[in-house]
Amino acid sequence: MNPLPIVVLISGGGSNLQSIIDRIADKTLNARLCAVISNKADAYGIERAKKANIPTEIIDHKQYDSRESFDAELTQCIEKYQPQLIILAGFMRILTDDFVNHFYGRMINIHPSLLPKYRGIHTHQRALEAGDNTHGLSIHYVSAELDGGPIILQKSVDILDNDTEESLAQRVLVQEHIAYPQVIQWFTEGRLQLTDNQVMMDGKPLTY
Ligand code: GRF
Repeated sequence: MNPLPIVVLISGGGSNLQSIIDRIADKTLNARLCAVISNKADAYGIERAKKANIPTEIIDHKQYDSRESFDAELTQCIEKYQPQLIILAGFMRILTDDFVNHFYGRMINIHPSLLPKYRGIHTHQRALEAGDNTHGLSIHYVSAELDGGPIILQKSVDILDNDTEESLAQRVLVQEHIAYPQVIQWFTEGRLQLTDNQVMMDGKPLTY
């Protein structure tokens, strides 16, 4: 099977990107990173991509006067690489409906909470403040609703008595680094589809 062509969008550290690079390197993930695109020039993930000889692109959102014009440029840039899957890995931009609809069914995101709980930011802090016993991560198709698209996989992480925002985030990240390459591998094996807003895995509806 040919490796699945992927474009990854980041804004920051890129530890999830690194987990994908590592799984491709050790051949447990049959994918090819065509490009890593960041809206921030100083994102450390860009260094990670360069080290792995992956083409990089910076599209600075501050250079655009509207979300629409930024997203139009981003769409063009992504399409240049003809990816079959677009991975959001810590990409901190709210996307326009046009952009999301353009890539609907072939764009996924990882979010550090058990959705629908804690959409948006500061998820670890909010889970701690609420006194939750469990937290976790969700991987979902991207839809026009922020952090609201159909869920592909969730993993729970226990909250410990002495957890801080940092310690909890760290343990969730460890699980993110396992889960994201796993879901991408399901794509490479052709096991995932999105039909009428319903995730299908191996031809059967997947429900969360
Ligand atoms: C992760 O926690 C991810 O779930 C969220 O942003 C963070 C990105 O971390 N969407 P990194 O840049 O992959 O280290």
